[in-house]
Amino acid sequence: IQILGTSSISLGFGATAKSLADQVTVPSGYSVQVVHATGDAINTATPAYSNTGAETDDWTFRVGDHHDGMALFYVTAAGMYSATATDRAVLAVNHESSADSHFLHPRGQTSGGVNGKKFNQFGNWDAKTRPGLEVLKEINLHGVSIVELSKDSNGHFSQINPASTLNRRISAQTVVNVTGPSAHLAGIKQLFTTKFDTTGATARGTLNNCANGTTPWGTYLTCEENFAAYTNIRTGGTAPDAKAVETRRRYGVARAPISATATAASGQGWFTPTDTADTNERFRRWDSSADGANAMNDYRNEPNTFGYVVEIDPLVSSSTPAKRAALGRFAHENAAHSNAVAGQALAFYMGCDSRNEYFYKFVSQQNWSAADVGGGMAAGDKYLSEGTLYVAKFNADGSGQWIELNISNTSIAAYNTNGFSFSNQAEVLVFARLAADAVGATKMDRPEWASVNPSNGEIYLTLTNNSASNRTPSTTDGANPRSYNDPDGNMGSGNPNGHIIRLKEVGNLASATSFNWDIFVFGAEQDSGDSVNISKLTANNDFSSPDGLWFSQSTPGLLWIQTDDGAYTDVTNCMLLAAVPGVVGDGGKITVKNSLTVNAVTTTGTQETFIGALLPDARLRRFLVGPKGSEITGLTETLDGKALYVNIQHPGEKTGAVNAANNDWIADPTKLQSQWPTNGGGLISAYGPGTRPRSATIVITRNDGGKVGL
Ligand code: FEO
Ligand code: CA
Ligand code: CA
Ligand code: CA
Repeated sequence: IQILGTSSISLGFGATAKSLADQVTVPSGYSVQVVHATGDAINTATPAYSNTGAETDDWTFRVGDHHDGMALFYVTAAGMYSATATDRAVLAVNHESSADSHFLHPRGQTSGGVNGKKFNQFGNWDAKTRPGLEVLKEINLHGVSIVELSKDSNGHFSQINPASTLNRRISAQTVVNVTGPSAHLAGIKQLFTTKFDTTGATARGTLNNCANGTTPWGTYLTCEENFAAYTNIRTGGTAPDAKAVETRRRYGVARAPISATATAASGQGWFTPTDTADTNERFRRWDSSADGANAMNDYRNEPNTFGYVVEIDPLVSSSTPAKRAALGRFAHENAAHSNAVAGQALAFYMGCDSRNEYFYKFVSQQNWSAADVGGGMAAGDKYLSEGTLYVAKFNADGSGQWIELNISNTSIAAYNTNGFSFSNQAEVLVFARLAADAVGATKMDRPEWASVNPSNGEIYLTLTNNSASNRTPSTTDGANPRSYNDPDGNMGSGNPNGHIIRLKEVGNLASATSFNWDIFVFGAEQDSGDSVNISKLTANNDFSSPDGLWFSQSTPGLLWIQTDDGAYTDVTNCMLLAAVPGVVGDGGKITVKNSLTVNAVTTTGTQETFIGALLPDARLRRFLVGPKGSEITGLTETLDGKALYVNIQHPGEKTGAVNAANNDWIADPTKLQSQWPTNGGGLISAYGPGTRPRSATIVITRNDGGKVGL
């Protein structure tokens, strides 16, 4: 296998060392600022964030939590979309999860509820009643924050302009339009009908907004990932019919009533509040019982309304977001568009992030026209409603097929499992995971972000990791070839360190139905041995569990890789690396030697696969290490590449302490794993009051004013 040595661009920074420090670490010569953090006010009327949980507002005008995917948009002085007018800029940021919402609730709150029991930091609630204001804050912390940024004295877009009329929150309560192929839209709407809209033409909100995409016409795509955990069936509620039970099973949605004797339950308990005037609807929607006797509770289709790519025009505050059902329903990680070529179709590449799930692409029916730049939601209707949804099958010989998910496929038409069969194409789109099962797509090691190389159109996809129950030596395949135990045993077996695969469409066409692939790089701990550290990573670039992935737009060929890891966090916090990749097929065929030990039983095997050229330190290098407990996710940049934006998600996640007497969270700073960014970490100025950790967007610039990374 060759080693890549030359390229038109080269990395120009010294590698950042692995670190367990509670700070953001970047190479010397770079500066870091916090742009915004969880709870920051986005208008002038909302009070500054206390970081004590004392807020009495419902977070309608605050930055959400768990910052994830994001994109920067330029606007003209008049507020119109522009790819080049750099005087004004708007930042759209996804807010994924309420898993750490104890950080934004007050200590020991006892008003409301039963027995004073509340949410605790482990994501459990006590199966009784939660305070309405807490739940509203959690509902509203999801979605997307859209804020205009103002420039600092160095000329960098680095702070919220609270007076901008473009500032907006899209939350889990925002009304959205339901869209899809015209021939199947009636069937799609039928699956969206709830008490809120009995026509199914609209739905409410967006949830678990993980990674993102952008469109060639200038809108933002937010992707709904782990939506399954948000609905419950209340104690005594009626279970859905057999067909719905099977679709809920396949998506991991609650499908049976909570036990009357449960002392804790999964999910958020968002349907439980009774202590506000509004008990009947914005809370009850999260109870998906099939309780026809009580129409107020008929939200049996609410789970069907999540799991989509949602398009937002970030520059028109009055615009209504749209669920793009044509792109399928699954645990959407992100949506990466192909390089736009006039007169050719556009493709959107999309991972479904769960173990053994699939990689998909949507191909537009309409061919791209640059006249649609700035076309907003109307352009989205044009390109994201009519088209073809495919799922990937990776072959052992390094080729692959895109299999169309269509009811006319005999495998889909004949599918009948656990009482479920497809009635129409609307169900193929809304229950796309089942359709992908039917056609025998390749089960992957958790597909996370995809990104398209602007230099040549090749598609990269992170496969973050997989477990021993899903990936044994006998169930490996060429595209998912590793099965082993975490070499130092601190966490994980199967494929604990993950890998990055890449694809080249035949003919370089977005509409191709076949492709070639190889594995760009395998994650590994530096000293884990040749059979695990196949890519020969060194102290300067070893990593585990790749997740975020994004090609720079300002420097074609520069790739950023982010990690969300458990298997290496005994040695280092999560990180951001820069890479200068080659091309699909520049390496060769290899044989992976697998050995997996589970319950003292060892199985071994070999798997042939294809690997790209090995990357020396000069072509793959660690740039940033985050604070304790954080995941590094989300990337965007200024047009000139001189400012790079990165998200620090959930520093100190799930830490704190529980009061055993009442399950309340105790805000004891000594029990916090992280106090970033309030501690500043020694590198940045302390950001905001208090001691509780907060997710945040940071901006990184070079002190000499040059391009970041070069
Ligand atoms: Fe939300 Fe798969 O990361
Ligand atoms: Ca992710
Ligand atoms: Ca992840
Ligand atoms: Ca380890």
